[in-house]
Amino acid sequence: MATDIDYARYDRVRPIHWTGEALELLDQRKLPFATDYLSCRDSDEVAAAIRDLAVRGAPAIGIAAAWGVVLAARDIDAGTAAEAARELEPALQRLNAARPTAVNLAWALARMRAALLAASDAGWREALEDEARAIEREDLAANRTMGKLGAALIAPGSGVLTHCNTGSLATAGFGTALGVIRAGVAQGRVGQVYAGETRPWLQGARLTAWELQQDGIDATLIADAAASHLMKSGKVQWVVVGADRICANGDVANKIGTYQLAIAARHHGVKFMVVAPSSTVDMETACGDLIEIEERDPAELHGVGGSRTVAEGIGAWNPVFDVTPHTLVDAIVTERGVVLDPDLEKMREAFPSH
Ligand code: MRU
Repeated sequence: MATDIDYARYDRVRPIHWTGEALELLDQRKLPFATDYLSCRDSDEVAAAIRDLAVRGAPAIGIAAAWGVVLAARDIDAGTAAEAARELEPALQRLNAARPTAVNLAWALARMRAALLAASDAGWREALEDEARAIEREDLAANRTMGKLGAALIAPGSGVLTHCNTGSLATAGFGTALGVIRAGVAQGRVGQVYAGETRPWLQGARLTAWELQQDGIDATLIADAAASHLMKSGKVQWVVVGADRICANGDVANKIGTYQLAIAARHHGVKFMVVAPSSTVDMETACGDLIEIEERDPAELHGVGGSRTVAEGIGAWNPVFDVTPHTLVDAIVTERGVVLDPDLEKMREAFPSH
């Protein structure tokens, strides 16, 4: 079986461009029918782009925030690295507050703070830019490594179901769960890809289906409500998803609907794989109950594509992530390796210095 992956063929989309003057973000609110880039010229514009989902996906919001710090640095006139750290802190706090659940955001900002503290007084601006570039480069490399590690778990010709969008659009490129699926398709391990539409924001329908189409990979869209029925049919052997935060005990926060997929997968004997870079691992948070789950505007549930579908006066509850307990997870794949049947002990062994 071929194990090499033609990245030029299987990785065509890039959501984040640093131009040297501005951060250009492929506006994911407009996909798939428009590929417009939103130009951010200061850190508050980047924070707004993260909050409003112009850029989304845990690794991508961390990378965007890192570039947001570089933009914030242009608006201050500090003479020393320590002074810069003090003056930039409010902008870092505003970036961090843009979304609460994905730990990659706080992780990237912590790296930017550390880079600043280690920088010389003459070189702190350059150090920030180098760090943002390194975060982006390392994410792409991690995704390619995870693609191979995760695909190796999948038997040739398997069907897989994925949720939300975990692809190039959600990362520096190639993707996490979608990276495993890309690698699996390239190697003949994945025969059929199913994408859940992922209500209410439709990341699966609008983004994943489009992104795979760019690579010439056929994805079959299903209503989220069709997942158990699909599993019962025997057409999928793996559910492969990403993560916004993986706790010390292996509990996983991911897009709302992931938890019910994990329950259904266990019931039907379908394996459940979580794919995320080590920047998503949060060993400081003991278990999933301690994760702040973002709740967004109920209006996201009141309509589709800007058209109201619900009568006026109807209340709605819109949590946009849920937590899958580690007992329902068969494999966590990071660039550092695979943790099978994760628990606290195995996570500590895999991430000793986290
Ligand atoms: O609200 P979103 O679209 O930012 O949620 C994204 C997800 O839940 C993804 O599964 C997760 O961030 C992993 S992306 C590689």
